[in-house]
Amino acid sequence: MSKIAILTSGGDAPGLNACIRSLVRTAIFHGIKTIGIHRGYDGMIEGDFFEMDAGTVSNIIQKGGTILKSSRSERFKTPEGRETAFQQLKKAGIEAVLVIGGDGSLAGAKYFAATYPIPWIGIPKTIDNDISGTDYAIGFDTATNTAMQAIDNIRDTAESHNRIYFVEVMGRNSGSIAYKTGISVGAEAIYIPETNTDLEHLFDVFERGWSRKKSSLIVVVAEGDEAGGAFAISKKVKEKFPQFDMAVCILGHVQRGGSPTCNDRVLATKLGVAAIDALLSGQKNIMVGEVKGEILYTPLENVVKRHLEITPAMTELIDILSI
Ligand code: F6P
Repeated sequence: MSKIAILTSGGDAPGLNACIRSLVRTAIFHGIKTIGIHRGYDGMIEGDFFEMDAGTVSNIIQKGGTILKSSRSERFKTPEGRETAFQQLKKAGIEAVLVIGGDGSLAGAKYFAATYPIPWIGIPKTIDNDISGTDYAIGFDTATNTAMQAIDNIRDTAESHNRIYFVEVMGRNSGSIAYKTGISVGAEAIYIPETNTDLEHLFDVFERGWSRKKSSLIVVVAEGDEAGGAFAISKKVKEKFPQFDMAVCILGHVQRGGSPTCNDRVLATKLGVAAIDALLSGQKNIMVGEVKGEILYTPLENVVKRHLEITPAMTELIDILSI
């Protein structure tokens, strides 16, 4: 193995730069030349390649975003797009590809690997934390901490004005960010796609809170919740309790940026080293993850979207702590 390519694909997540640094430095340590691909699979199709050295990744471990830039490529979903990408990799003499991506990007890698002989290694990143084969994907820890800090700030102003806040967090179809963040901010209720949104229960929680003179109430809503998100839920609550002051805050892309937490930097660094180790030991077409603190290699074809399992005890916890 003398020349590899690395890219970041899909929505960005804090910790991508830490992982890029780890991949490049580990590859150079082992005498492997590293080519960076700009703009994800779109850049691969267009041959937007450049050579990386140890200096290219200096002083980036603490930075959000991705120095390689990213894209959600529609073209790579087509056989024609993947054929063009293969020709570009061949022309550049690339012997293996390492992609840091979410479930969509890893599925793209799987389809490519089924047709072409270049080996792939995937590394999981997504603030949604919905990829099988790893306890945590790069970016989730930072996103939850960012959301937590934002909601702490909202709690201050909610308290001052005796106001109810509905805060919507990201996660696409996953409630992972909402559940974890909601617990960490002491939310009165958490609504996620994995559980049934029972508004009668929410009304009871509010009445219970007011009866003991709570001066603020926070409801954390996952953007994918089946009741339709924070605006839709707040509207229904306003119809029931028109006398109360309510506000909605959509945290949005603020959760995708910022300096990665210590946990994300360490995870990204460990997965980068493990990915190069996997290549050197002859593994191919796998995703490297970490489960219970141990590195785990999962064939790309077995990597699927993971659904958050909500047990009755997890739901009860929210009820107990919001009295
Ligand atoms: O998958 C990460 C994520 O941030 C989701 O939580 C969100 O639904 C989506 O990406 C937003 O995508 P975009 O940046 O394309 O608007």
